[in-house]
Amino acid sequence: MQEMFLGGSETSSTSIEWALAELIRNPETMMKAKKEISSVVGSNKKFEESDIDKLSYLQAVIKETLRLHPPLPFLIPRRATQDTNFMGYLIPKNTQVFVNVWAIGRDEQYWEEPLVFKPERFLGSKIDYKGQHFEFLPFGAGRRICPGLPLGQRVMHFMLGSLLHEFDWELEFSANPNTIDMTEVIGSVMRKREPLKVVPKKCLV
Ligand code: HEM
Repeated sequence: MQEMFLGGSETSSTSIEWALAELIRNPETMMKAKKEISSVVGSNKKFEESDIDKLSYLQAVIKETLRLHPPLPFLIPRRATQDTNFMGYLIPKNTQVFVNVWAIGRDEQYWEEPLVFKPERFLGSKIDYKGQHFEFLPFGAGRRICPGLPLGQRVMHFMLGSLLHEFDWELEFSANPNTIDMTEVIGSVMRKREPLKVVPKKCLV
């Protein structure tokens, strides 16, 4: 039970905070996401879990957030069970191995303009986070892949979708979206050093 709570709470909440920060820095992307949600869900209805499958742009926003800000940037450490030759490198038995999915998600060999937040790159693309596409592994891969993936993905889509559907989000006072501090710090997960401070304005009738 403890592992489920530890694994399942900050990973999802920090991802939603990163997503909101990226959307506020990219107003056009925010507008597209809100427009898609209001056309699918409608303005006089609550966001429901069953809406998620119809929201391909929202799905792309979540993927793009996890590409740039994977909550567990080194996954869970592995240990080599035997001497292994990997791409010409000898990894001796018992070596502890960290997989840097943060760096893989920003590798320009695999991603065009890797530092730009561009959910469109996932539209019409087969790349998913289920552990089959090695350039994008926010939930890990193989036998240790995150067991909370189905729940985590639902929670993220449902929460972000509801927040965008019901509220417009503004920065405090006259703060400028371009000056949002996007510095990352590593703790139990990789989170924003400065928590995002935003003001919700109710927009659903
Ligand atoms: C944004 C949501 C989440 C992300 C990005 C995420 C990511 C990850 C990653 C990268 C791993 C390590 C996988 C590996 O090393 O291959 C992991 C493991 C784990 N996750 Fe998640 N997770 C999320 C949500 C959840 C949720 C909702 C739960 C449970 C309710 C959960 C429970 C766990 C547990 C128990 C492990 C350890 C599995 C093991 O030791 O084999 N996670 N997660």
